[in-house]
Amino acid sequence: MSDEKRTAKLEIDGKTYELPIFSPTAGPDVVDIRKLYGTAGVFTYDPGFTSTASCDSTITFIDGDKGELLHRGYPIDQLAGKSHFLEVCYLLLYGELPSPAQLEDFESRVTNHTMLHEQMQYFFRGFRRDAHPMAIMVGVVGAMSAFYHDSTDISDEWQREVASIRMIAKMPTIAAWAFKYSIGQPFVYPRNDLDYASNFLRMCFGVPSEEYEVNPILSRAMDRIFTLHADHEQNASTSTVRLASSSGANPFACIAAGIACLWGPAHGGANQACLEMLQEIGTPDRIPEFIARAKDKDDPFRLMGFGHRVYKNFDPRAKVMKQSADEVLELLGIENNPILQVAKELEAQALADPYFSDKKLFPNVDFYSGIILEAMGFPTSMFTPIFAVSRTVGWISQWKEMIADPQMKIGRPRQLYQGATLRDYVDIEKR
Ligand code: CMC
Repeated sequence: MSDEKRTAKLEIDGKTYELPIFSPTAGPDVVDIRKLYGTAGVFTYDPGFTSTASCDSTITFIDGDKGELLHRGYPIDQLAGKSHFLEVCYLLLYGELPSPAQLEDFESRVTNHTMLHEQMQYFFRGFRRDAHPMAIMVGVVGAMSAFYHDSTDISDEWQREVASIRMIAKMPTIAAWAFKYSIGQPFVYPRNDLDYASNFLRMCFGVPSEEYEVNPILSRAMDRIFTLHADHEQNASTSTVRLASSSGANPFACIAAGIACLWGPAHGGANQACLEMLQEIGTPDRIPEFIARAKDKDDPFRLMGFGHRVYKNFDPRAKVMKQSADEVLELLGIENNPILQVAKELEAQALADPYFSDKKLFPNVDFYSGIILEAMGFPTSMFTPIFAVSRTVGWISQWKEMIADPQMKIGRPRQLYQGATLRDYVDIEKR
């Protein structure tokens, strides 16, 4: 992977430092600055990590200019079209597509861990009814550390595996129960004869008093949403999970940290913010007003569901999501949904506007996912929890990769200090 012969030269105050250059299997070359401080006594400065590779990884690759997303080399559109979520989970976790026997074994391991410890109900019941489901998820997932003591030792490979399966299996139950609690309905226990997406829909929309018929079209759409959000290399929440676990914290605590980071509107919270924005726009005639606001430097408003740190072309997930939105709304007989009309018109007007094309701002995955989720009957507050359910496997795959890496060190960024220099304490009566 690395080409030790190639170096970059950095000159500081007349002295030249040679820095090794590594060539990845795909993507830009990387200048290795690990020894820079030791040899030259300087730090590099890159807030927001716009030019910094924080780790080695073999899991996911994004070519932002081409609009390409590969999991273990396989393009996301092929996975979304031909595979399904649990198979993609296997691929992300273990590196290869499973054989039929491996898939059966994996599915059986996941479906046999879907129940929550019965005591965990009290955590849900302790929240206010109007708590955001993400708040409940952060708390309950962190609390798993207190219930599953036999899978918190990160130095034990078997315990790491059990923790991984537990989180992938239980996350839909946690998200569904957060939803049920918020609407005052009884918790619905998982059913292990259903596939992952159907089980989640049943736990969200079923009630104990009657049978819930899973609509296979909705379950396929749900599975596709899970698949499209499964991993996205070193994004903010994944980097949070990696940084949290670099200290040796237990996996449940680390994934809870990832969920907290995902909640923000610049990241996973954008799907909720996007649908709320489309609802606020309401009718296509109001679109120019919102586009003008998004372009106004003095207005903090941004078009939610537009732009991406890495994609400077169409987000490949958005293409599949848009097609899925059309299919779901047509099958539900609501293809004239006014929000979808606003979304399509907003997309067309923004793409035709030089402000967005010059800055390479295209619709991202969140632009259409909310429309599908709303059509399925989810309130906006459930959009980000559903993202969290999907992304759990990505966080875990990256966490497992990191723990198994012999080069793993605690993450400890440095800073460009701009504060006061050494000064003496002044007694309060003299200030
Ligand atoms: N609407 C209007 N202007 C925008 C937008 C937008 N959605 N996004 C970026 N810009 C402008 C921004 O004002 C800046 O302009 P200038 O160069 O004149 O100062 C320029 O484009 C570059 O923006 P940036 O903030 O430096 O870019 P970033 O890479 O730091 O931010 C982003 C990426 C996703 C946070 C940002 O595009 C954004 O806030 N988008 C809306 C929120 C959103 O949809 N987030 C979901 C991301 S995809 C799901 C996920 O992976 O979590």
